[in-house]
Amino acid sequence: MSSFSSKIGVLLAAAGSAVGLGSIWKFPYVVGENGGGAFIILYVVFSLIFGLPLVMNDFMIGRLSGKSAYGVFRTLSGTNHWQWLSWLTMVTVTLLTSFYFVVTGWCFYYLTEAAMNTFAGMDAEGLTNFFTAFGHKPLTMIGYAFVAIVLTAAVLWFDVNKGIERLSKILMPLLFLMLIVMASHMVFLDGGTTGLKFLFEPNFSKLTPKVILEAVGLSFFTLSIGLGILITYGGYMPKEEKETLHSKEKNIVNTSIQMIALVIFISLLAGMIVFPAVFAYGFSPAEGPQLTFVTLPAVFQNMFCPTLTSVSFFALMCVAAITSTISLMEVMVAFVREASEDTKRPLNRHKSVIIVGVIQLITNSLCILSMTGSVRWLTVMDKNLFDTANNLTTDILIPIGAMGTSIFTGWFIPKARYQSSPMISFLYLLTLRWIVPVVIFIIFLESMNVFQFTIITK
Ligand code: PFF
Repeated sequence: MSSFSSKIGVLLAAAGSAVGLGSIWKFPYVVGENGGGAFIILYVVFSLIFGLPLVMNDFMIGRLSGKSAYGVFRTLSGTNHWQWLSWLTMVTVTLLTSFYFVVTGWCFYYLTEAAMNTFAGMDAEGLTNFFTAFGHKPLTMIGYAFVAIVLTAAVLWFDVNKGIERLSKILMPLLFLMLIVMASHMVFLDGGTTGLKFLFEPNFSKLTPKVILEAVGLSFFTLSIGLGILITYGGYMPKEEKETLHSKEKNIVNTSIQMIALVIFISLLAGMIVFPAVFAYGFSPAEGPQLTFVTLPAVFQNMFCPTLTSVSFFALMCVAAITSTISLMEVMVAFVREASEDTKRPLNRHKSVIIVGVIQLITNSLCILSMTGSVRWLTVMDKNLFDTANNLTTDILIPIGAMGTSIFTGWFIPKARYQSSPMISFLYLLTLRWIVPVVIFIIFLESMNVFQFTIITK
């Protein structure tokens, strides 16, 4: 059985999974598209009110069952009725990774280009054109996504304990430090205050039910909720020799709070790097998925030691992305292994890593061929596969997965199984039974215009 060797190892691996492209690439552009400050308030509120119980819940059910997303629901409920939820998480993770590795590939591409000093002397228009030109090179994109897949698979090949934990222990603190240094530099740029105002001054007129649903989705995406990742990691948590109910509960609560605080902090730091840059150089905050990639090299031009700074930044993005892809792929590997135990031919870790790696290569290539327009019929309702996978997972599948897990623990695990103190148990059950499912359900209906509420703003 795989396992982490220490509490700090669990925290760093969980934080490594959570802090990734979601915070540094997705958070800024989604905030930019949805008007800034008011969206951020929603994001933080959802991360605290929903995020905390859901993160704790994932850890707890993983720890209690010692299983991955495949076996967890079956083991805890003693029936097969919940297997659909296991398969839903697997579909979601597969879709999510099929665009996540693409963007990780972009990071590697930008890292190599930054190292070759390609961005020197390019203005805003030049940088936008550079990104657009890259968007027409499917083979280059596939090549870089392939590099990301192979690197991730190599870490998983050596098992969780040695691979993920060791890597996270070194890289996470480094990442944190680099972001702080960059954010403190950026806020002093000319135009930096406008960027900060955009980020922190709420403008509620942009809030619609669809935007609210996006805030829920982004919050869950950045916290790695609803995909079985923290469930799998919960199963790897070390058991203490003299474990009491109190110490077990304290461990899970502390790890969850620390992880959430770190994610919110890093997402805000990323915003504090990107938005001052956007306003200082005249980009649009609603630039979309290319936002981080076009704006930042512009800024690096005018900084001390531009090549070194841009290389450091893209190296940091690669680190953040890889610690997340490791967790995503580990969930798939654990799932494939557990599912294969139901057959006559159980698969070992190495075979499972190869199978998942090949699936990744295929799905990522399809997304790339679709988004670059190389294969025109690869679309869903006129949208390319990259956008479809990106929006479908964040705005729909992850919230449904989170709601399902919440209902499962709230209503279907016998209370005696997860023993906890009365206070925690009350708050926890209240949130999992009622607040999370009901609120997410209402937001869903509302985003489909079922009630036609209007949000009144002055
Ligand atoms: N939380 C990661 C990020 O923000 O980049 C991405 C992610 C990892 C999402 C794992 C979901 C997940 F289950």
